[in-house]
Amino acid sequence: MHDVNVGLIGLGNVGSGALTILAANADSVALKLGFRLRVTAVCSRSVARKELPAQLGSVTRTADWREVVGNPNVDIVAELVGGTTVAKEIIDAAIANGKSIVTANKELMALCGAEIWDRAIKANINLAMEASVAGGIPIHAVLREGISGDRIVAIAGILNGTSNYILTEMERRGESFDNVLAEAQALGYAESDPSADVDGYDARSKLAILAALAFGERITPSDIYVEGIRRITAQDFDYAHQLGHTIRLVGAATQTERGLILSVRPALIRQSTILAGVQGAYNAVWVKGQFGADTFYYGRGAGPNPTGVAVVSDLMRVAREIRRGSPERVSPFAHERLGEYEPVPITLQHRPYYLRFRVEDQPGIIAELANILAAKHISLEAVLQLPCDTKHNLPFVITVEPSSELAIREAVEQMSRLSFLKEPPLALPMEPPL
Ligand SMILES: NC(=O)c1ccc[n+]([C@@H]2O[C@H](COP(=O)([O-])OP(=O)(O)OC[C@H]3O[C@@H](n4cnc5c(N)ncnc54)[C@H](OP(=O)(O)O)[C@@H]3O)[C@@H](O)[C@H]2O)c1
Repeated sequence: MHDVNVGLIGLGNVGSGALTILAANADSVALKLGFRLRVTAVCSRSVARKELPAQLGSVTRTADWREVVGNPNVDIVAELVGGTTVAKEIIDAAIANGKSIVTANKELMALCGAEIWDRAIKANINLAMEASVAGGIPIHAVLREGISGDRIVAIAGILNGTSNYILTEMERRGESFDNVLAEAQALGYAESDPSADVDGYDARSKLAILAALAFGERITPSDIYVEGIRRITAQDFDYAHQLGHTIRLVGAATQTERGLILSVRPALIRQSTILAGVQGAYNAVWVKGQFGADTFYYGRGAGPNPTGVAVVSDLMRVAREIRRGSPERVSPFAHERLGEYEPVPITLQHRPYYLRFRVEDQPGIIAELANILAAKHISLEAVLQLPCDTKHNLPFVITVEPSSELAIREAVEQMSRLSFLKEPPLALPMEPPL
């Protein structure tokens, strides 16, 4: 059978990983497919300085992506540039030229994946995007194939390796957020501008894609409540441990009677749960199905090789579809259309909450806070105070019974005005066991 030809645009972390694997596994890939995947063109702005694996043989090099997308010797374009500008132009041009596409671009697919997928279907081309969520975990294949016979009722995941690394190091060593972030930056684990990771935006893009795949609705990042991990302290871990919990940045999509509640936020999760055991830069996704109940997926969420495997596996899948002449005709972003999974505001969520205060100690503090909670019909469960050597910035914690997010927000807003508080209360949901 004829070879299927690949053009790779972007030779950074992911592109270089994919190229290495395509070269090292060329023979085994050919045996699995029954034909060869051949890299015929590569592109990056600094392509002249890039060293390519010798096993690839003769490859066209260019710094102009249009020469890859317009190359008659390219069947599949791998967009591994990232961002929402040039990457979008590349994908638009690939569709216009009838080239199939593999992408690792979570940002773009979260923002306008549904529209891109619709155009790809109309153009009769194939599209795959496994590497866009949780790098090395084949979660797209799981949702689109492995458990597609089920109806998903909830997903919860650790979707950002950098913030999980920071939280687990804070927990392990009792270090502050700022210190661990600075170390992570020095080690190259965190970007110099860490906002996408620590403020939850990267995980939000991934959750938008995952939830769209799982629930078949058009879900965009703006449907998802997002809150980062900057306010978490080492003391919060001490209190969470007292309660048998730990703290993780959890991306969750849950079907409720009122609709789909979507959030990326730090939350308390029970230490005994499998998700709590996810340490360092690892990612994990837990999925609950109506019939199949719980399944759990774990692996490296980033890095040239794990993400490269996802890209190469996507190239193989698309190559098979090209040979069989059967592109994915149903968009993973809009297969449901039954209206059961409409996103609804986070304020409808019901959870027990962990409320952490920092106060200038004085008599009557608990009574004042309890009065505000009672006025919002929030039932207090426990008050915890660990030993502390200052009365001027004294931390303590109140946990409350399941309450609506709306009531908690109103109470927190009212409490924030109290003169003895050093900062607004930190409110974290306590997730039910996963
Ligand atoms: N890094 C990960 O572990 C990971 C995991 C999952 C998904 N992803 C996604 O994978 C994609 C790529 O990420 P990455 O980490 O590999 O990024 P990266 O290391 O920054 O690489 C980007 C590549 O794109 C090239 N490029 C940028 N603008 C270009 C242009 N106008 N024309 C041609 N080439 C251009 C760059 O070329 P020069 O270097 O020559 O300038 C570079 O080779 C992103 O969508 C990212 O979200 C990454």
